[in-house]
Amino acid sequence: MKAPVRLGVLASGRGSNLAALLAAIDRGDLPATVAVVIANNSNAGALELARRADIPALHISSRTHADPGAAIADALRRHEISVLVLAGYMRRVDPRVVAEFAGRAVNIHPAPLPRFGGAGMYGMHVHEAVLASGVRESGPTVHRVTEAYDAGEVLAHRPVPVLPDDTPETLAARVLQAEHDLYWRVIAEQFCRDR
Ligand code: GRF
Repeated sequence: MKAPVRLGVLASGRGSNLAALLAAIDRGDLPATVAVVIANNSNAGALELARRADIPALHISSRTHADPGAAIADALRRHEISVLVLAGYMRRVDPRVVAEFAGRAVNIHPAPLPRFGGAGMYGMHVHEAVLASGVRESGPTVHRVTEAYDAGEVLAHRPVPVLPDDTPETLAARVLQAEHDLYWRVIAEQFCRDR
């Protein structure tokens, strides 16, 4: 059997998608390993989760590094990362990193793209926009990372119903559950097929 694919995860917050990936790896569903977790917030839950799992956890931001993009590129090289996974990363990925991981970097967005993506479409704003639009279906979208926000090729979308009495919070929670079941499948399918 080939060595597991080495994932590098970029995150900013809570880290529930990271937790779901780690759970899929533990179950044997995702033949990969999370080899480094990098966050731009020192208090990101994702860093804490990584430390508890003995995964190198790095805080890299403009406060800690003069050139955070170069520091991230360097860390990804040092940890021999072959696939870059954005899991709630709230910063623009440095163009040098995007170029280095062209075709090997993915993001998960909590709504259909391109309609509910782009600048300002993050966190609860996304679910507020979905509810305001009146659509009856939302759901996470996994796409390739390019220089523009939320604009790379769509790899998968999981439909999730919008219910009549949804608030942004109830919709977000339903979509998040779908994210947790979708992300590892797409990563396995796209990058780990011959493992
Ligand atoms: C998720 O809703 C994801 O779609 C978006 O950011 C959120 C991250 O949540 N990109 P978590 O940190 O993985 O819990």
